Amino acid sequence: MRVLITAGPTYEPLDPVRFLGNRSTGKMGYALAEAFAAAGATVTLVSGPTNLPDPIPATIVTVRVETAAQMFAAAGAEAETADVWVFAAAVADYRPAAVATEKIKKSGETLTLELVKNVDIAATLGQRKRPEQFAVGFALETTNELAHAQDKLHRKGFDLIVINSLRDAGAGFGHDTNQVTVLDRAGAVLNFGLRKKTDLAADLVALVLARCQPPSGVGSGG
Ligand code: CTP
Repeated sequence: MRVLITAGPTYEPLDPVRFLGNRSTGKMGYALAEAFAAAGATVTLVSGPTNLPDPIPATIVTVRVETAAQMFAAAGAEAETADVWVFAAAVADYRPAAVATEKIKKSGETLTLELVKNVDIAATLGQRKRPEQFAVGFALETTNELAHAQDKLHRKGFDLIVINSLRDAGAGFGHDTNQVTVLDRAGAVLNFGLRKKTDLAADLVALVLARCQPPSGVGSGG
């Protein structure tokens, strides 16, 4: 089984020394890469900038990128041959319309940046997803979690969506623990109580493997 995972933030450059980014650490995506590898899968981990070392197992290839456009290119190159897609990256929705070639100097009391929309990696790849491919998305919501996540699941062609709520203590960016709710296309809701991201990753991998039918089965050797 081949698995494609996006992880971490994206950095969108503004000038040679500055960028727009977010607080994603990549921990959840890296933990999923390790858990899929432990289950016998071959993994491509497309990672935005993180402080994490490349995962060690030889069955995980880590591709380092910086921007959403680079992440899209790297993920797009692997999407067709992957059986499972996991979109764990916190992709910047917008990037600066222009990247200054020199450092932007301080001038007026205010500075207005023009931003343009980035490609939605999950939604764009979702349009060319084959029926036997299985896609998992993540959603970070602060209000109406289930309704927003359900909308994203259908809009982006996910089979499962993992919902992080910023209202939950110990969940989300920067923590070693996470507490999530998983929603499927039929509307079924599964709650995973607070646990280490590495344990949650193993539980999510088990859920995905139970839901998708690889042609020959993970670890079956044929
Ligand atoms: N995603 C992506 N490319 C983007 C934005 C998001 O692949 N440009 C993926 C994320 O990796 C995640 C899912 O889409 O799996 C949901 O991301 P989220 O940021 O919550 O959704 P948005 O569509 O950006 O919705 P909003 O920011 O309005 O809540």
